[in-house]
Amino acid sequence: MTDSMSGLCAFVIFGATGNLASKKLLPSLYRLELAGRLPDSLNFVAFSRREWTTEQWRSYLRDVLREQEDVVCQEEACQRFVARFDYVQGEFADTAAFERLKEAVAKPKMGVCSNVVFYLAIRPGEYAEVIKNLEAVGLNKPRGFNRIVIEKPFGQDIESAQILNQLLHRYFDEEQIYRIDHYLGKETVQNLLVFRFANTLIEPLWNRNFIDHVQITVAESIGIEGRADYYDKAGALRDMLQNHLMQLLTVVAMEPPPALEADALRDEKVKVLRSIRSIPKRSVHAHAFRAQYGPGFVDGDMQPGYQQESGVEENSITETFVAAKFYIDNWRWRGVPFYLRTGKRLKQQMSMIAIRLRHPPQQLFRETPLQTVDPNWILLSIQPEETMKMEIHVKQPGLDMETRLLQLNASYRREDEKPLDAYEALLLDVVEGDKTLFIRFDEVEWAWRVVDPILKYWAQERDFIHTYPAGTWGPHEGNRLFDAEDQEWRNSL
Ligand code: BG6
Repeated sequence: MTDSMSGLCAFVIFGATGNLASKKLLPSLYRLELAGRLPDSLNFVAFSRREWTTEQWRSYLRDVLREQEDVVCQEEACQRFVARFDYVQGEFADTAAFERLKEAVAKPKMGVCSNVVFYLAIRPGEYAEVIKNLEAVGLNKPRGFNRIVIEKPFGQDIESAQILNQLLHRYFDEEQIYRIDHYLGKETVQNLLVFRFANTLIEPLWNRNFIDHVQITVAESIGIEGRADYYDKAGALRDMLQNHLMQLLTVVAMEPPPALEADALRDEKVKVLRSIRSIPKRSVHAHAFRAQYGPGFVDGDMQPGYQQESGVEENSITETFVAAKFYIDNWRWRGVPFYLRTGKRLKQQMSMIAIRLRHPPQQLFRETPLQTVDPNWILLSIQPEETMKMEIHVKQPGLDMETRLLQLNASYRREDEKPLDAYEALLLDVVEGDKTLFIRFDEVEWAWRVVDPILKYWAQERDFIHTYPAGTWGPHEGNRLFDAEDQEWRNSL
């Protein structure tokens, strides 16, 4: 156990009764408990508006674990986990509630507690109130020990991100700030580093000489799950593309860092973001496409359209689907399009990085029944499967010159190995003070710089948005982004 880990004594969750906490944070923390990775000295404080006592919170927590983890809280680990929690009721704008929080954090059972994590699992619009009130009661101190975790999207655009960052820096040192993007905690994303930099087979191919284009898809079949108050102001571009997909892009495109250290890695990611060609106003339509889901069948069930979701503003033109094309103007990638797309209520829950290689330079098989052979693909599936596949042509056994497509499958999880949730890995990093997989502000800033022209342009075009039936892959008009006729979205592994 490192010093910082053994010293961590309290973990405060703002928004403890919200969607993120119940779906991701609480189950992941519980799994860390099961794995014996939480320091004995660590206690949790749940902070929320609901008028509850600690006992009522604990009973809610048991329900959450039963729903998400299928555990009936009888075993020792579960009881230990639930007993670690205290509950503080309050509004984020109410300084008196933060005084109560301070007392809860400093309860005698913990002795002197001077190493606290604050997790902001709340709407971005509420960050400022919480940060100011933490300062008002002195909970931002001691500087250097207390940590604050901020979810994405970090700001609404570049200006608001800068303002938020200045506010944070007024009260916290950079060392204390953990900007989280849970996609960096996903196994395939981390494995991408291993795949690229531990195999001499791959890296020589990983450039403009061999790669035709790159596709990054994060498709969700779920809708907005009751989060209209946040989502209707954010949209798919802010919710997913500016952060999760952009991070995936940087890991695909970055140069090998000099060491596997937080800043070395982040320096390389920033270089990629800085090299992305900026999109002039007049070309936004050629580079970005947005759409919104209408009613439709998803997995056999009829689902309402976005406009019918409760809490969505009438005639909202918030996008639930976005596709965009970027070029990275450096030696490795010049001229290779990176196509990114993400959407809600699509046909399938599926995230994948699909890399299409170039056609062979010589059409050797032109006179045979084969004529043209499809180019090779490298497929990195992030979810639901965690796999890597390479498609290769082989000759079909027999008298004729015919081929068959073979998939080399580098699935790397053995049956007895349980999948980790990205939050599990990242929460442990927060507890242990490892910032390698957290975002530095210059990454946030450059990512906003890349998407800001699109946001600004869309903000002016407020009278129309394409629609797609729920349960499909989005409107075909989005295909206008492709540079060549033989390029199209790859929807399956
Ligand atoms: C979150 C978004 O960051 O990521 C959600 O706010 C989205 O809208 C979620 O559903 C997807 O995460 P995952 O891990 O389920 O792919």
